[in-house]
Amino acid sequence: MMSLRFHFYFLILYASIIIPTKCFGNICLPKDHVALFIFGDSIVDVGNNNYINTTTYLQSNFWPYGESFFKYPTGRASNGRLIPDFIAEQANLPLIPPYLHPGFNRYTDGVNFASIGAGVLAETRQGLVIDLYTQLDYFKNIETLLKQKLGEEEAKTLLVKAVYLICIGSNDYIVPFTTNPSILQSYSQEKYVNMVIGNLTTVIKEIYKKGGRKYVFLGLPPWGCIPYIKAQIPGNKGTCMEELTTLVKLHNMALSKVLPKLESQLKGFKYSTADFYSFLIERMNSPSKYGFTEGKIACCGTGPYKGIPSCGGRKTVKEYELCENISDYVFFDSGHPTEKAYQQFAELLWSGTPNITGPYNLKTLFER
Ligand SMILES: *[C@@H]1O[C@H](CO)[C@@H](O)[C@H](O)[C@H]1NC(C)=O
Ligand SMILES: *[C@@H]1O[C@H](CO)[C@@H](O)[C@H](O)[C@H]1NC(C)=O
Ligand SMILES: *[C@@H]1O[C@H](CO)[C@@H](O)[C@H](O)[C@H]1NC(C)=O
Ligand SMILES: *[C@@H]1O[C@H](CO)[C@@H](O)[C@H](O)[C@H]1NC(C)=O
Repeated sequence: MMSLRFHFYFLILYASIIIPTKCFGNICLPKDHVALFIFGDSIVDVGNNNYINTTTYLQSNFWPYGESFFKYPTGRASNGRLIPDFIAEQANLPLIPPYLHPGFNRYTDGVNFASIGAGVLAETRQGLVIDLYTQLDYFKNIETLLKQKLGEEEAKTLLVKAVYLICIGSNDYIVPFTTNPSILQSYSQEKYVNMVIGNLTTVIKEIYKKGGRKYVFLGLPPWGCIPYIKAQIPGNKGTCMEELTTLVKLHNMALSKVLPKLESQLKGFKYSTADFYSFLIERMNSPSKYGFTEGKIACCGTGPYKGIPSCGGRKTVKEYELCENISDYVFFDSGHPTEKAYQQFAELLWSGTPNITGPYNLKTLFER
């Protein structure tokens, strides 16, 4: 107790002498403060969907979600922390809360706008999710609040220095693919991908106008091979859904072309990206190389590959199995990686060498 208290006072002393801070009313920020703003879908939603009117298919606020790390369901679609949580830890920020969390008002560290099931296109699960344009509107609300709290100039500085993590697009392909293939048939694959990337680009440019300069983009995971999709092929002996794989690869290719373009068009635009697709495929195919024993079957769910989305028993199928040792698994439920897989990816993002994470890794992005 004594030594704990001693450390505590020592830390305060240390912080006030060594780290220069700037105060605005009751908010004090270190001089090199870098906030983290997050836009996206279930890969990065830390609980916004707990507060919207949607279906339990698009929520994870029940047991056993969250059980490994938080010991209670937070709304994260995994057993523990997600990529933005690990990034916040590395950047010495507190975990960044969901925008819709009641009573949350310390926006100076950043905000998470992501929503399970959301897409870039407004049509993707319209009415059940917070689509990317609405996430952008929420971000604009935050800009207004920051200006009120910090003043025009300091708010702008905060937004310029901040890092923007964007992980979205998956649902724009999965939803039409699994529920309404006619949407995809009315466009060519290239046209559809261009529409998704076109709208994503529009949103990036809007964030840029508000000051956003430093971005992190996660490419799309190999959705054609996840337990949820594989379980939909009757009698599947291990094959993936080729058409979905093609769309995902087209999207990732288009994204990797548009980012250098934005870098050349928008002064000061810097980004970081790592190949989430290959990262997961490698762990699914060679789990033991990375400390897992099972790469293809989910930990929590029902049926082949545990691909029926029943984890927690709150959906149509009530019976489900939960594996004994979650850290053996790459996938926690039918569509989402485990905390351990996310942690490995977040480490690559943070400090990966340029052949894996580039043009900047996150460590550099936060320091600049
Ligand atoms: C939530 O959605 C359901 C079904 O779509 C609807 O009946 C209900 O009125 C909605 N509740 C709110 C608070 O909007
Ligand atoms: C954005 O998506 C809409 C459909 O939601 C589409 O009509 C529009 O052309 C897209 N915009 C761009 C710039 O691609
Ligand atoms: C759980 O799995 C991890 C990783 O495979 C392993 O290191 C650990 O020993 C396992 N724990 C138990 C209780 O089996
Ligand atoms: C990337 O480069 C590092 C050294 O800079 C090397 O150790 C590693 O094997 C390379 N990885 C790949 C996938 O090329």
